[in-house]
Parts: sequence; C-alpha cells; structure tokens
Amino acid sequence: MKAKITLLPGDGIGPEIVDATRQVLEAVERKSGHSFTFSTHLIGGIAIDETGVPLPDDTIVACRSSDAVLLGAVGGPKWDDPTAEVRPEQGLLGMRKALKLFANLRPVKLFRGLESASPLRPERLRGVDLVFVRELTGGIYFGQPKGKEVRNGLRTGFDTMVYDENEIRRIVQLACDVARKRRKRVTSIDKANVLATMQVWREVATEVAKKNPDIKLDHQLVDSAAMRLVTEPASFDVIVSGNMFGDILSDEGAVLTGSLGLLPSASLGEGKLGVYEPIHGSAPDIAGKGVANPLGTILSAAMLLRHSLDLDEDAKAIEAAVQKVLDNGLRTADLSGGQRSLGTTEMAYAVIAAIEGA
Ligand code: IPM
Ligand code: MG
Repeated sequence: MKAKITLLPGDGIGPEIVDATRQVLEAVERKSGHSFTFSTHLIGGIAIDETGVPLPDDTIVACRSSDAVLLGAVGGPKWDDPTAEVRPEQGLLGMRKALKLFANLRPVKLFRGLESASPLRPERLRGVDLVFVRELTGGIYFGQPKGKEVRNGLRTGFDTMVYDENEIRRIVQLACDVARKRRKRVTSIDKANVLATMQVWREVATEVAKKNPDIKLDHQLVDSAAMRLVTEPASFDVIVSGNMFGDILSDEGAVLTGSLGLLPSASLGEGKLGVYEPIHGSAPDIAGKGVANPLGTILSAAMLLRHSLDLDEDAKAIEAAVQKVLDNGLRTADLSGGQRSLGTTEMAYAVIAAIEGA
C-alpha cells in the first residue's frame, strides 16, 4: 500500500508530537511493507508568522492531494487576542470547511492502568467507552448572518444557528453507521425545548432512526446530557450532536477518563480523506521541552490508518502497542504523578519497540 500523508505540525507542542508520530508510522511501514510519503505544511500561528494567513493555499492544495492529514495543534499566547483579525483557529475552521469535513469523531475510553488519573470515582468509570460524532461544518459556527454592530447605541454581537435537513441526516446517519460496529445505541443531543433549529434536528434524527431499525436512537437535551456524562458516562455508546454542543460536550467527555493526552480524533467527509489530530491543545507551557505526551497523536495515526487507508490491522497494532507500554507502567509527565517519566521521543520509541516486538 502506497499513501501520501500531509503533516501539519502547527504550534506549541505540535511539531514534537507530530515528529514522534511520524516515526511510529515509519515503524508501521517497515513492519507491514507499506510505503508512506510525508510532506509537511504550515497551519495556525506559525503560518500567520511566516505567511500572514493561518491557512496558506498550498497547505489546502497539499491536503487535497494527499490520502490523509495528521495535525498537531494550533494556537498559543502569541496569537491569543480573540478580537485579532487573523487567528490560528481560523486555519482549523477554514480547513474543515475547505475539505468538507462534516463529521468529527472523538472516541473516549478508559485505558487500563489510568483509572486513578480520572476526576471521577472508579465506580462511575467502569465500562466508559463512548464516541462523539460532532457535526463540524455547519450550525452556529458558520451560520449567516453573524457579526458585530452597534444597535440602538449598544455594541451588539450576533450569530445564527442553522441546520438544514440534509446536514442533519448525513451526520445522524454516520452516527448510526458508527454505532452499528459498536453497541448499536445512539443518543442524539438537541435543545428542542427552546431552539427551532433543534426541533428540526430532532424530527430528522427520528426519521433517520426509522431507516436504521437495528439501531436504538434516543434524544436528550444538551443540558441533561451534560449531567449524565458525569453521573453515568458508561450509559452512552454513540453521541451525535451539532457543532457547538459537540464542541462543549466532547471536552467534558475528554476529561472523564483522565486521559486527555491520549485521546485521538478524526474529521471526516464524504470521501476517504480525513484530518486526524489529538484532542488536546498546543500546550505552550511545555512546548519545546520534549516532555509532551505523544500518545494522543499516535492514536490519531491509528485512526488515520483505519479510516483513510483501510489498514485496520496496522491501526490495531498501534493501539495494542500503546496499551502495552501503559501496562508496562511507562508514563509521560502528564500522567506520572511526579514519578519517573519518559519524554516525547522516548515514549514514541517505547511504542515502536512494542510494535516491532509484536
Ligand atoms: C475543537 C476546538 C475548535 C472548535 C477551536 C480551536 C476553533 O475547540 O476542535 O474542538 O471550537 O471547533
Ligand atoms: Mg473544542
């Protein structure tokens, strides 16, 4: 198998974790005889510094002509002013839109050995294994009109939450497809008691459920879902939501298991091309120190192999290798609780050794 992979290291710890992950992918190449070609491009704050824009055209061209994209993280204190004209986050949002990546998958599971890192009591954690399916190119993030103006002498900001039935149908259908390979349950998140957009959302989700009789779909209001996520997280299988609710709930979900540094994500569209990135941010406080946890990015690479390249066996090999290094007690500083810890590259080497030993 030959594949072109675009690397977008971005800002903060991005370059370190992406470099470590490339080495893991090279180990997969050696073991399985695949041939991956890597090319590195700019996005985010570093792109602003070097080109004036957060998403240079050649980055988009490179992404479009590749089979998959691996992204580190964007943003940092240097570009933090939320009112600035050009911001790193625009690179991310622009890329999602340009590549039509309408679905964001964020699996959350409990890793053996990391139970004590969770803020939740162990009895609540047992069995947590869920996946967020978040709509990514619509909703209030992109709805028009949006803007800032003076109304009746008052500074006023406004955004529009809008979804049409096609956008809702394709994301809920994708959630059903994801659930079919899991425990066959989908919880659709809305705010149908208040928002018209969300009444349409619930209606269409109900229609999609009828077409997928093997899937059990239920509806839950976003506020009560936020509570259920901390009180009964193990009761969820697949959670499908619009853009903003998914943004919020998936961060809540990410901290449940205490493994923020380990969680991967995939942003997918109609075709095979996807963008894969860890869910944590650019961690500017530890950038350049070689101590960042690369496992979230390494597990994102596993998702890349599975979803964009159909290399399920190789994806499983990476996931098993990560569990093995954790079973062996190896930890980066974020999870070591002050005990001995490995640096970014050392951790990647441990994963590579596990892959090669398997
Ligand atoms: C995420 C992030 C982004 C979002 C930001 C950085 C624009 O929070 O991927 O969840 O809100 O979608
Ligand atoms: Mg977010």
